[in-house]
Amino acid sequence: MSKVDEFLNAARHLLGERGLVTDPDLVEPWLTDWRGRYTGKARALASPATTDEVAALVRLCAKHGVPIVPQGGNSGMSGGATPDDSGDAVILSLRRMNGVRRFDTQARQITCDAGVVLQTLHETVEVEGLRFPLTLGGKGSATIGGLISTNAGGTQVLRHGTMRAQVLGIEAVLADGTVFDSLTPLKKDNRGFDLKQLLIGSEGTLGIVTAATLRLLPALAERAVLWAGVGDLRDARKLLLHAERMAGDALEGFEVLPRHSLASVLSYNSQARAPLQQAHEWNALIELTADASTADTLAALGQNLLESAMERGLVEDATIAANEAQAEAFWAIRDEISLAERAIGPAKQHDISVPVADMADFVVATMPKVEKAFPGTTAVAYGHLGDGNVHFHVLAAKGVDAEEWENGQGKAISAMVHDEVTAWGGSISAEHGIGQMKRDELARLTDPVHLAILRRVKDALDPDGLLNPGKLVPNSVQRSS
Ligand code: LAC
Ligand code: ZN
Repeated sequence: MSKVDEFLNAARHLLGERGLVTDPDLVEPWLTDWRGRYTGKARALASPATTDEVAALVRLCAKHGVPIVPQGGNSGMSGGATPDDSGDAVILSLRRMNGVRRFDTQARQITCDAGVVLQTLHETVEVEGLRFPLTLGGKGSATIGGLISTNAGGTQVLRHGTMRAQVLGIEAVLADGTVFDSLTPLKKDNRGFDLKQLLIGSEGTLGIVTAATLRLLPALAERAVLWAGVGDLRDARKLLLHAERMAGDALEGFEVLPRHSLASVLSYNSQARAPLQQAHEWNALIELTADASTADTLAALGQNLLESAMERGLVEDATIAANEAQAEAFWAIRDEISLAERAIGPAKQHDISVPVADMADFVVATMPKVEKAFPGTTAVAYGHLGDGNVHFHVLAAKGVDAEEWENGQGKAISAMVHDEVTAWGGSISAEHGIGQMKRDELARLTDPVHLAILRRVKDALDPDGLLNPGKLVPNSVQRSS
């Protein structure tokens, strides 16, 4: 029997027929990321049902030197869950581990398996009058394990922080098959390094997250969703400051959409309606929320906010969602940008951050610079202005060959955008992670001291390099330029 067959037989023995799939037709859907950018090969799709099974599989992989690519909902943005094309790896899907282990409604904490889908989590806790304060467009597929491994952001970071801030405890299987159990939430714990935080955002390169304890908040009593048309992104920034001053903790979201993004969604989805009659260069989507004590005054706060912003000349026109259905419709426009843009044609996506106070200036300065350097392209920036994070996309000129463009001009565009971001003191990955998409750019643009720490931590926790190889951590600590 070949070595590969020996491994597969042992894995099948461990996980059963349901837990180990080698039929190419069944493995195939998981070999490509959802955007269709990366396709790899794998020996098998392993779907353990318990942490013990994950641990046993990891030990088996360690014994046979088989690389492991952990995968949740396969809706990541940077190719972090897609194997390379060597065909050596197994995909370790966490989707079968989708149970709630413990739900303490009084303490407002839930412990669930890594494969629980975000939307399912939202629905589960809502029944008990609670909410999980992190959401994003991919909530129907994104899993808790994937959200933790990528330290996902979304549209409530402004008020509640990224995934890091929601995780109270973690369980993960390490490269040698041991289980790091830190699920018990402790408000105070100073026993040295925060290993839980080290695993969050490590993209499966240091361990495989199998479960987590998450913090929950009381359900909202009321929300007001505002849509404002704005002439200039710097006015949107002033509007954000104005909203922060007026609404304080009631301000939960502040997103911007340029005219182009709104138009893309309207042409992609015939059900979508523009919230305002006229088109504006920029749109701000603002969410205010209230608990029972302030619910009665929330609508008035929204009204005052918009009126005073208009008096100050920050807003050209504005509206407040008249009911929950309209509020959902406003957010649906925002959440659909990614899909709508994908339908337009080839584009280079950049998920970037600079200091919050500088983002409007960055966008205003960099968009025309990129368009001038690459005639025929269109630069579009949208998203989380309140977090100093936008999705800075550069759409190809019409009629280009997608693959040729991606590898030619597309690469040069990304290098330029990333150089600009770096010059402004920012990050080339604000919320989507590094995966395989940005690994070389990370190596090119990151301080060697930072890179050396990444490498040493990786070597310490995964000395044989079997956990998600080729993702996140550059092989060399040298700057390549
Ligand atoms: C968004 C995703 C792409 O903000 O991060 O739409
Ligand atoms: Zn985003």
